[in-house]
Formats: sequence, structure tokens, C-alpha cells
Amino acid sequence: MLKEKIQDALNLQINKELFSAYLYQSMSADFAAKNFDGAAGWMAKQAGEEVEHAQRIYKHIIERGGKVVLKAIDAPKTSWKSHLDAFEEAYAHEQMVTDSINKIVDLAQAEKDHATASFLQWFVDEQVEEEDQTSAIVEKLKMIKDAPGALFMFDAHLGRRE
Ligand code: FEO
Repeated sequence: MLKEKIQDALNLQINKELFSAYLYQSMSADFAAKNFDGAAGWMAKQAGEEVEHAQRIYKHIIERGGKVVLKAIDAPKTSWKSHLDAFEEAYAHEQMVTDSINKIVDLAQAEKDHATASFLQWFVDEQVEEEDQTSAIVEKLKMIKDAPGALFMFDAHLGRRE
């Protein structure tokens, strides 16, 4: 049985994952409106992954005999100045998510909830990958700066994300 404190933290994390999906889908929509189909596709895939993250936590709460409580999802921004602006925000957002996951791991350990601590290890590893991915894109975009040809090619590259 899940302790209430842990259940509350996990429910809040579901909300953060769903907000992440909303944020990336909004970035996708902004890129699509500006005909940057590659980045639009990349962000749409990321949004899909975030929904899966929320579903994983949802399943864990249910499996542990807890209750999922869905809360309102904040509206994301709708416009970004550039690829760099959006990906810098995505990177900062992922760092915030990592911090949030780490805090729940700390709580699970303090409460001796080994099952939740073990479950969250997948997220700890996933966040390493997510931060690495987004920061690498930010670094490449900084190199590209305002070169339109390079940006056009990099956008197409983003669209080939598996
Ligand atoms: Fe589910 Fe991008 O953190």
C-alpha cells in the first residue's frame, strides 16, 4: 500500500509529465506553424514520450493499491523566438523534471518505500538521456547561430529522430 505522502508526490509527477507533453506539443505546433517540420516532428515524438512517462507512474500507483488523482494541466506558452529559444527551454525544463524525480526518490528512501525507489530508477536513468539529448541539441544550435542553410539542414536532421 502506498503511503499518502508518496502517492501525492507521484500524482504531482503525473501532472508534471503531462505538462511536459503539453509544453512539447505546443513547441511542435509553433515549429509546424513556421514550416520547421523537422523540429515539429522531434517535439511531437517527445510529447508522446512524456505521455508514456505519465502512464508508467499511473500504473505504479494503481499496482500499489493507490489512487490516481489527475489535476488541471497548466497552459503552456505558444510561441518561441527560435529553435535555440525552444530547445534551451526544453533543456531547463528537463533539469527541473530531474530535480523533481530525485526529490521523490529521496522521499521514497526516507519513507522506506523500496518499491517506489526501485520503480523510479528507470526515470533517473531516463532523465540522464533526456538532459543529454536536449543539451547536445542546444550546443549544436549555438554553433549554427544565424546561418540559415545550416539551420535548414539541422531541422531536417531533427525530423529523422527515431
Ligand atoms: Fe518525462 Fe522529459 O521527462
